[in-house]
Amino acid sequence: MIKLNLGYTVDDIPLASYKEQVKTINEMINKKTGLGNDFLGWTTWPEDYDKEEFLRIQEAAKEIRDNYEVLVVCGIGGSYLGARAAIEALNGLFPTNKLQIIYLGQTLSSNYVCQVLNYLKDKKFAINVISKSGTTTETAIAFRLLKDLLIEKIGQEAAYKAIFATTDKARGALKTEADANGYRTFCIPDDIGGRYSVLTAVGLLPIAAMGSDIQAMMNGAKQAMLDFNNDDLFNNPCYQYACVRNYFYTHQKSVEMFVTYEPQFTQIGEWLKQLFGESEGKDHRGLLPTSVTNSTDLHSMGQFIQEGTPLLFETIIRVKEANYDLVMKNDKNNLDGLNYLEGKKLSFVNEKAFEGTLKAHSETGKVPNVVIEMEKMDEYHLGYLFYFFMRACAMSGYLLDINPFNQPGVEVYKKNMFKLLGKY
Ligand code: PA5
Repeated sequence: MIKLNLGYTVDDIPLASYKEQVKTINEMINKKTGLGNDFLGWTTWPEDYDKEEFLRIQEAAKEIRDNYEVLVVCGIGGSYLGARAAIEALNGLFPTNKLQIIYLGQTLSSNYVCQVLNYLKDKKFAINVISKSGTTTETAIAFRLLKDLLIEKIGQEAAYKAIFATTDKARGALKTEADANGYRTFCIPDDIGGRYSVLTAVGLLPIAAMGSDIQAMMNGAKQAMLDFNNDDLFNNPCYQYACVRNYFYTHQKSVEMFVTYEPQFTQIGEWLKQLFGESEGKDHRGLLPTSVTNSTDLHSMGQFIQEGTPLLFETIIRVKEANYDLVMKNDKNNLDGLNYLEGKKLSFVNEKAFEGTLKAHSETGKVPNVVIEMEKMDEYHLGYLFYFFMRACAMSGYLLDINPFNQPGVEVYKKNMFKLLGKY
C-alpha cells in the first residue's frame, strides 16, 4: 500500500542500529505505557471506533447533503485540518459536488470572517462546530456569529436543527450549549487529541457530508494499524520512516520539507505540519516541518532547496495514478514549441518534473529525499496514509524522548491575548 523509497537519501542510513529502540517503543505504544499514554486511543481506533455513532454520522451527512447548499466547518487546528486535508485530497479544489464546504473558526481576521458571513447571507447553510475543549476563542467567536446569522435567516428552531456539534462527551461550554439547545452532537473521545482525531467524528462528519466513503477510509486505517503495530523494522515502512527522520535530526538536519506535486494535497501538508510540529516541537527539540507544492514552488523555493543552507531533507508524498488526465495535442503552427509533447499525458509531464527534481535535489544538491509512494488517492488509501503518519509521529516523538501527545507551549499566546482582551 505504501512504499518507502530510500534510494535518494544521500547518506546510507544505519536502520539496524534502531532495532532495539523500535522494539521498546513499539511495546510502549501498544501497551500504552509511555509519556502521554492517556492519549493513545487513536492507535486502535480503526478497530474499536463507536459503530453506533458511525451510523449517526452517515445519517447526518446525508441529511446535510440533501438539505443544504453549504456546510460551514467551524474549528481550528486538530479540529479542522484533517477534515480539510481529506476533503481537498478526495474531491479536488473544484469539486462537482452539490454541497460546498466553507471553513470558519480558524482565524480571528475580521476581513475573512466578514466576507464569509456576507457570502452565506443568501445561502442555505448548516454548521458543524468542532471543538474538544469547547472554549477555543477563534471557533467560539465564529460559531456565535454564524449562529446569529442562521437564526436571523431561518428562525431559532430551524437554526438549531442545522447545527451539528462535535465535542467532548460530557464537558465544556459547547457541550453545555448543545444540550441546552438540542443540537445533534458527536463525540471526540477523551483519549484522542486534536491532531490525532481525523478518523473520529471530527473528520468523518464533514468528509462524509461531501459524499466520501468513510467506511472505506476506516478500512484503510485498520489495514495500516495491522501493518504497522509491530516491531519488525525491516518490514515496517512506518517505523523505517520514523527512524530516517530521527537519523536526519541527529545528523545536522533541522527541517523536514513535505513535498507534493498535487495542489489538492497541499492541505495534507498543513495537517502534517500540525501533526509533527505540535507533537515534536518541545523541550527545544524536533524537526521544523514545512511544506511545498510542486512544480509551483520549484519556481519560488526551488533555488533554496537546491543550493541554500543545507538544513533540510525532503519527504515526497507521491501518488502514482492521476484521477483526471489529458493528452497533449498537435498544434500545426507550434509557435510555443510544445509539439515535442504531442501524445503525452499531462500526468506524464508532472511525473518527469518529479523525477528530474528528485535527481537535481539529491544527486546535484545533496539534499536527502525520502519518497513515500502510493498507487492512488481514494478513501481507503487516505485512511491508510493518515494512520501511517500518526503512528510514525508517535514513534518519532518517543525516539526524541518527548511526549508526542501534549502541547503545553500553545497556551502561552492565549494567556497573553486574554489578558490584553480583559478576560481576566
Ligand atoms: O491538536 C490540538 O490539540 C489543537 O490543535 C487543537 O485541536 C485546537 O487548538 C482546537 O482545540 P479545540 O478542539 O479544543 O477547540
